[in-house]
This record gives sequence, C-alpha cells and structure tokens, in this order.
Amino acid sequence: MSRNPLTRFSISMPSELAEQLDEMVADRGLANRSQAIAEMVRNELVAHKSQTEGYDIAGTITLVYDHHRPNLQATLTALQHAHHAIIISTLHAHLDHDNCLEVLVVRGHAEEVNALARSLISAKGVKHGRLSVTTTGKDFSR
Ligand code: NI
Repeated sequence: MSRNPLTRFSISMPSELAEQLDEMVADRGLANRSQAIAEMVRNELVAHKSQTEGYDIAGTITLVYDHHRPNLQATLTALQHAHHAIIISTLHAHLDHDNCLEVLVVRGHAEEVNALARSLISAKGVKHGRLSVTTTGKDFSR
C-alpha cells in the first residue's frame, strides 16, 4: 500500500464562508479544513462523473412499489434481465401486505446506469425510486 503524495495549494474565499467551514469542521469532528475540502471534492467528482458518458460508476437503485399493480413486476423483471450485465446484485424486501422495496446494486457506464434507473423509476406504479451514485473505488485514494 503506497501512500499518495499530497498537493498543497491555497484557496481564497469570503471570510464568512471560511468561518462556516471551520464551524462545520468542528461539528463533524474532522481533523482540519483540508480533510473537509477533500471530502467535498470527492462528492463533487462523483456527481460530475455520474454525468460523464463512458465513465464507470457504481451505485444503488432503490424502488418501492405495490406488487399487486398489474404487469408492474413483469415490467421491472424484464428491464432487469435486459440490463443484467450492469446489475451486480438485487435485494427484495416485502415491506407489508402490498408494498415491496427493491434495491439493485449497479455498476457500469454512467449513461447506461442512468438510463436503467430512469426506466425503472418511471415504470407505471413505482411509488418512489432513487439512484444513489458512488465511485467504483478505482480512482479515489485517501
Ligand atoms: Ni415483495
């Protein structure tokens, strides 16, 4: 395990913003401003890369739906089979008599993952759906 070299650079920002940053650093128990800013940069890089065509992302798609809804389960299953290459794992929980919660772990090109999430979430009868994107871990060091 090799440690990554650090780059040092100075940042200018309004004093009030810097004060709020320091408060947040203290509230969250972070070591220093650098740690806080590095974390923000990672979050923004994930957000940016999740919209970058051809870039590999990982994430989860969460869906809540009523399994009694005609054709819905068949539609969701067909979509998942059509995109099996980017779905690593799925979890299905029966929330109550009617409602199901499904979590799909996905990994693939940003545009494919986004398209799959849109198709699933917009399927008629899905009550709520969300794509949560993270890094594949390959390009993020600490
Ligand atoms: Ni169920």
